[in-house]
Amino acid sequence: MLYRRVARPFFFKVAGRDAEAIHERVLGGLAVASRSPALTRAIALATELTGGALPQTLAREVFGLRFPNPIGLAAGFDKNAVAIPALAALGFGFIEVGTVTRYAQPGNPRPRLFRLPSDEALINRMGFNNQGAEAVAARLARQPHAPIPIGISLGKSKITPLDQALNDYLGSLEPLYPWGDYFAVNISSPNTPGLRDLQARDRLDALLAALVARLRERAAAEGRAIPKPLLVKVAPDLDDHALDDVVDVCLARGASGLIAVNTTIARDALSAGVPRALREQAGGLSGRPLHARAVAIVTSLRQRAGDRLPIIGCGGVLHADDARRLFDAGASLIQIYTSFIYEGPTIARTLCRALAASTVRPSRF
Ligand SMILES: Cc1cc2nc3c(=O)[nH]c(=O)nc-3n(C[C@H](O)[C@H](O)[C@H](O)COP(=O)(O)O)c2cc1C
Repeated sequence: MLYRRVARPFFFKVAGRDAEAIHERVLGGLAVASRSPALTRAIALATELTGGALPQTLAREVFGLRFPNPIGLAAGFDKNAVAIPALAALGFGFIEVGTVTRYAQPGNPRPRLFRLPSDEALINRMGFNNQGAEAVAARLARQPHAPIPIGISLGKSKITPLDQALNDYLGSLEPLYPWGDYFAVNISSPNTPGLRDLQARDRLDALLAALVARLRERAAAEGRAIPKPLLVKVAPDLDDHALDDVVDVCLARGASGLIAVNTTIARDALSAGVPRALREQAGGLSGRPLHARAVAIVTSLRQRAGDRLPIIGCGGVLHADDARRLFDAGASLIQIYTSFIYEGPTIARTLCRALAASTVRPSRF
């Protein structure tokens, strides 16, 4: 409430019109807090006072990992893993950092992040701005492991041609391997030219075969009984045929699960109140207008995969009812991004409390 009444109007109007600059300042603050255990504890206490204590009843095990609660922070918020301790203190049950690419890259020219407040949505065309796999791995190596699972999202470097994508992903996995509890293959961002072609059957087959083989090799070398899980993040713009292909290949190649969905290039779910200049910005749309599509894709993936592939549901979860819809559609876990911007830093705790107060369908995994 305090966030919606005071902080959000300040961020959206007074502190500047550049959405990315605000994001950088907030993330910078969280990064500073992350370096101090006292500040991290203060963040946990402050958000607990306003958002409530985290219920213990929501813990679950999915693809061999234990999650203290099912509300995770989606990829793209903390691309360089600078603020994991503070984000964990906000109550997230897991955090996916990245997307990280093998080579550092600046992303697309600014402006590249746009708010659509009437629809509680964002359009972004960041283009995988990140410091590169080696730098992110070095940062992760310097910090103690978070008390929650950490996923690492891997993407293709812009300079790498599509036919060499496989080596690029393997090159990112190499330094990052020790620090991720799971890895997500991002082949669904609309902001790297050609990236989504990797969702095509043959390309995905080769990519997953190589990544799963590498994870199995590493597991054997370490004496781990089960390799670290590999998830595939899908676009909401895939048709039924393409969804069939993704599920088939994931099952055949031994992927551990799916993340559905990334941002959409469609604009049809936007309200008439969104100015044309915004509606027509290139990039991926997230937030409330994505939600119905996310539910439809999770439903469809669940029908195709049965109980064989756990799904992380993502897209337009602003309130507990949205999360419930994704659970009912077959998701075992939830990720959020855009609602962090619209609902504020207590979003994870608020969602958890509301979910715990009702009957959540227990996860089948
Ligand atoms: C500014 C921004 C940057 C993002 N960057 C990434 C990214 O690097 N990798 C990725 O897999 N998804 C990225 N996403 C997509 C989110 O992880 C998520 O799939 C999408 O926003 C839908 O969830 P939401 O409606 O809760 O935001 C980004 C989203 C936003 C808004």
